[in-house]
Amino acid sequence: MTEQDHKTIEQAKAEGKYIRTIKSFVKREGRLTKGQQAALDQHWSTMGLEHAQGLVNFEQVFGNNNPVVLEIGFGMGASLVEMAKNAPDKNFVGIEVHLPGVGACLSSANEAGVDNLKVYEHDAVEILRDCIADQSIDTIQLFFPDPWHKTRHHKRRIVQSAFVQSLRSKLKIGGVFHMATDWENYAEHMIEVMDQEEGFINIASDINSDENAHSIFVERPEHRPLTKFEQRGHRLGHGVWDIMYKRVS
Ligand SMILES: C[S@@+](CC[C@H](N)C(=O)[O-])C[C@H]1O[C@@H](n2cnc3c(N)ncnc32)[C@H](O)[C@@H]1O
Repeated sequence: MTEQDHKTIEQAKAEGKYIRTIKSFVKREGRLTKGQQAALDQHWSTMGLEHAQGLVNFEQVFGNNNPVVLEIGFGMGASLVEMAKNAPDKNFVGIEVHLPGVGACLSSANEAGVDNLKVYEHDAVEILRDCIADQSIDTIQLFFPDPWHKTRHHKRRIVQSAFVQSLRSKLKIGGVFHMATDWENYAEHMIEVMDQEEGFINIASDINSDENAHSIFVERPEHRPLTKFEQRGHRLGHGVWDIMYKRVS
């Protein structure tokens, strides 16, 4: 039995049914390097946030009420740390399930000397549900999510209606959901899902020049760092699609 067979997980639990939720990731038990372990040991107490803490108050956590940028699935954290370093007037929150990635992120954050970044090591779906207050986020970013290439795996793609509506409730009105992918079929899927969702508009036409008034993709904004992986892709002639939707209601 899967989540889709029931209106809500709560309803199923009330009926005493076991629910197997479809995850957007497969937990890899990769080994931690010494550096990643050391970074976790030294910096988790200052940079880590726990699912068990429940609803989080960002003003308390960061000591200011700067805009909050939430990144889902930050990998090793390279672009997240660079963004945090380049925008000290914003607060950054990263969510990642892969522990070595979290360790790597803490290590680079420490090297970069950023103090406007906190991270969760947990499933983003559950963090959104249990820890993030409604209308508390200015920007949500989802860069290069696992594409789940095979058709039979498409249900694992994180961009799905229920997930998007959860993001919508966490975004402030006017807040932006920024996606990027190097997989054209996933870009098309993102547009298809987002265009059907209530409460969002694609802002490509607002951002791009008049001659591109009907475009659905935006140019990579300067604030999204070009990763090594992406640079390599460019050299090989691969495309990357940036997509931005604004919460309007
Ligand atoms: C293809 S990687 C991209 C990483 C990074 N954004 C980048 O551009 O290099 C996707 C990442 O999303 C993470 N991920 C997938 N589903 C997630 C979820 N539900 N919650 C948190 N992280 C997730 C995976 O562990 C993986 O590190």
